[in-house]
Amino acid sequence: MIDARAEAGARPWWESAVIYQVYPRSFMDADGDGVGDLAGIRARLDHLVDLGVDAMWLSPIFPSPMADFGYDVADYCAVDPVFGDLAGFDALLAEAHWRGLRVLLDFVPNHTSDQHPWFIASRSSRDDSRRDWYIWRDPAPGGGPPNNWTSDMGGSAWAFDEATGQYYLHAFLREQPDLNWRNPAVREAMREVMRFWFDRGVDGFRIDVLWHCIKDEGLRDNPANPAFEAWMGEKHKVLQTHSANQPEIHELAHAMRRLADEYGDRLLVGEICLPLDQLMHYYGTAAAPGVHLPFNFQLFEAPWDAATLARIIREYEAALPPGGWPNWVLGSHDSPRLAGRIGEAQARVAAMLLLTLRGTPTLYQGDEIGIGRVEIPPDRIRDPQDLRQPGLGLGRDGARTPMAWSAGPQGGFTRAEPWLPLHADWRSRNVATQATEPGSLLSLYRRLLALRRQHPALATGTIALCEAAPDVLAYTRESEAGRLFVALNLSHAPRPMPMPAGMAAECLCSTHGAWPGDGAGQGALRSDEGVILRLEARP
Ligand code: NOJ
Repeated sequence: MIDARAEAGARPWWESAVIYQVYPRSFMDADGDGVGDLAGIRARLDHLVDLGVDAMWLSPIFPSPMADFGYDVADYCAVDPVFGDLAGFDALLAEAHWRGLRVLLDFVPNHTSDQHPWFIASRSSRDDSRRDWYIWRDPAPGGGPPNNWTSDMGGSAWAFDEATGQYYLHAFLREQPDLNWRNPAVREAMREVMRFWFDRGVDGFRIDVLWHCIKDEGLRDNPANPAFEAWMGEKHKVLQTHSANQPEIHELAHAMRRLADEYGDRLLVGEICLPLDQLMHYYGTAAAPGVHLPFNFQLFEAPWDAATLARIIREYEAALPPGGWPNWVLGSHDSPRLAGRIGEAQARVAAMLLLTLRGTPTLYQGDEIGIGRVEIPPDRIRDPQDLRQPGLGLGRDGARTPMAWSAGPQGGFTRAEPWLPLHADWRSRNVATQATEPGSLLSLYRRLLALRRQHPALATGTIALCEAAPDVLAYTRESEAGRLFVALNLSHAPRPMPMPAGMAAECLCSTHGAWPGDGAGQGALRSDEGVILRLEARP
């Protein structure tokens, strides 16, 4: 069998790779406390191998008071006891590598926990040597916060510290004080953190809110957001003109890249939520490269229609800088479940889209079995974003519920009460059940991932959008080894099958299983159907 990754030859491994996001609290609980852990991940590596992904990114596993479920780090160079310990991490890493899986960790550089020893020292006195590791300011002249910046979790981005009479900045929770990246000592300390994990053998990092790390030196007020409405959440009261995405961030991203490059083929994926023209700067330049993959989140919120998706693909491809490698993301622990948003039938089409677009895809745990919208009873809400701004629908718990591995008790996730409830249909929607059903979403994901490995056109080939009927998205993927055609029907009714002229075809995959179309490409796409055809020039 051809392995498209081998064909990719001199390319870096991550260009032809598929990344899988593990949310450790909800993947697999081995020690029976209702929360997932590293031993659980290790016990379920078979799933990732059977699925056919190449790398896993673990959301934070570091010691944390869990105010933001690990995105509040109290020690960057250890493992929280709820997840295990460093020896357990080393064992997981070794076994993952042995099975051909790379491991990315979540690097959270913008802020620490307020329980991190650095912050405890910093807030202890205005004279402490760590005071300037965070962003402290006097109250505004008339009293109150130093400026109008709002926190992404609601309310002011400033918290007052009675003991020292100053405010500190927090772009997220008050339990997550922002580090001062203008301080060289902070940079050096965080370089050591990256080195610590690179030296242990991790294959890279996903970098949390990279675009937030540097703020306007003068901390000027942000402009009011003219489009603000209450339902958006207080974060959107002002535009983040001065509190994020400052020009100096690119030098910082480049410094992180230089360090990663010292270790060879390590990968940096940047979490950056910005418009396309801004996002592209995070690739850096040939002389000063930035992160390898600035996450491309456009599919998250896009209206699910063919015209919009075609526009997004066209604009994204056109905006990439020379040498910039694309990437696509459909789901995460922060966004509503895909299948809940677009429905089960279109979730199959979305799987085909994600795994046939040009660029590195990131799959989110649970999307491969189609976990949909999960109602969280009010007394089980855990997400601080939801608890602080109730009723706005900002809760992220629904995307963070446990994986279901089997039809056994608690879906095989835990022996205890899980920290969040499982999806209602876990008895039928679980890995073991779907693995035995050729028509399941999991089987489709496995088939698509296998095709990506077999066909260099899918893994690394070029892409060209094609003319198609309304509601149909069609494109070709091409490499020296062959040419494939992808047609996706985004409607719930049959649509004409588009075909590039003068070519004959064989169907490699239909979201509906068997494909009744003939070799000349006649026929129609069935409702909610996606197909991948192999094209051959007519004799
Ligand atoms: C982005 C993470 O994905 C999210 O879960 C977290 O709340 C914020 N960054 C703050 O770290």
